[in-house]
Amino acid sequence: TEFETFAGVLEKAQKKVNEASNELDKLVGVRTRQIQKQLKAINLDSLNNLYRISQINVAEEIDKNVLYNLPYTEKALLQKDSKDKIDSIGIDIIKNNQYAVVTMAGGQGTRLGHSGPKGTFMLDIKPKAKSLFEILADNLKRENEKYGIILNWYIMTSADNDIQTKEFFEQNSFFNYPINYIKFFKQGNMPLLNEEGKLVIGEDGSIKFASNGNGAIFKAMKENGILDDMSQKGIEWIFIGAVDNPILNMVDETLVGLTVFEKNKIGTKSLVKAYPEEKVGVFCRKNNKLNVIEYMELPKDVIYMTDENGELVFGESHIMCNLFNIKALEKIAEQELPYHSAHKKVNYLDENGKLIIAKEPNAYKFEQFIFDGFRYFNDITILRGKREEDFAPIKNKEGVDSPETAIELYNKLNVERR
Ligand code: UD1
Repeated sequence: TEFETFAGVLEKAQKKVNEASNELDKLVGVRTRQIQKQLKAINLDSLNNLYRISQINVAEEIDKNVLYNLPYTEKALLQKDSKDKIDSIGIDIIKNNQYAVVTMAGGQGTRLGHSGPKGTFMLDIKPKAKSLFEILADNLKRENEKYGIILNWYIMTSADNDIQTKEFFEQNSFFNYPINYIKFFKQGNMPLLNEEGKLVIGEDGSIKFASNGNGAIFKAMKENGILDDMSQKGIEWIFIGAVDNPILNMVDETLVGLTVFEKNKIGTKSLVKAYPEEKVGVFCRKNNKLNVIEYMELPKDVIYMTDENGELVFGESHIMCNLFNIKALEKIAEQELPYHSAHKKVNYLDENGKLIIAKEPNAYKFEQFIFDGFRYFNDITILRGKREEDFAPIKNKEGVDSPETAIELYNKLNVERR
């Protein structure tokens, strides 16, 4: 009868509701356990400290009276004789397999608006479009041919992009780079905090983490056995560069030679700032320590300070092109580098489980910076390069430092013939 049919439907519906409720319980259980596990790995005291840091305006705290600029050597002005002498020191090291390259690819590339790992971003260069990873691989292959060696290439990833990065290399047959000479290692991460200093729940219902900055590289290399691997291979000098500069010169014999010649354990390439507000860090000595002040932390009046020739006093910029002796990496890996905070737009689930899409910066991300490792040394070799030969950064979707500007610089330089 009609009633019996209705009772059947009702029973079935009830069964479905029960099943869904069990599923939900299971899901909530899994989520809760996951969050509990995440919480165990978080040091809440140190996070509280970081929250306090995020509330300080670092640029306002910096006393410009304790800042001094640093001496540098301009590559283009080196006399031929001395350049040859310096280069030959570098060439010996490279040819003796005492040199390796590390690419930092753990960042998220949010400014560029590319959803995958930044190294998978395709750049429409001539003669054919290539991903940033392929461009770097090809640049290194050319160096291998030039010096008759095979460089060990280490790639730092993060929890956000480790699997995707490795898959991308596999799908592309490692760009025909000798596979035994490539090693991936993963950097650490840190929880994000909202404006009240509370942990943030992400779209997947778990506590939201983000990679903890490129300064995490030192501990990551130590903890993942990369430093030991380098030691065993007899590698003495390690170049560490960014993933987002397709004309990055990863094997500059002058930089290696000059650093050794000046008896330093760390060296770097610099450029004169293109304009005072350029989003680059600047080299200086702060409170007697070697330092780079990042663009968002540089006090306004210091940005525009000029000397008697009208040059920017703090205009020598960091282009993420750094050289370290293995002893220097080992030493920095023992230190606790400070954290810097950045105010970011972060989507989250509110207390009702509703997804909130951030329109304005609403959370703090905590990052260590690679150049904070410089302060443990008395001196650094700074080799000033040339923008058109060294720096075509891809940071923004369009306008300055975008794929468009990078393609133009890349095509003009013709890296193939560097
Ligand atoms: C960086 C430099 C800045 C320099 C500029 C030049 C730092 C802190 N800032 O700024 O001084 O003038 O490049 O282009 O070094 N990365 C990781 N893990 C992370 C974060 C970043 O591997 O957790 C890598 C990125 O993948 C990229 C590089 O570090 O290869 C640069 O990172 P990004 O955050 O884009 O730095 P910028 O803000 O542009």
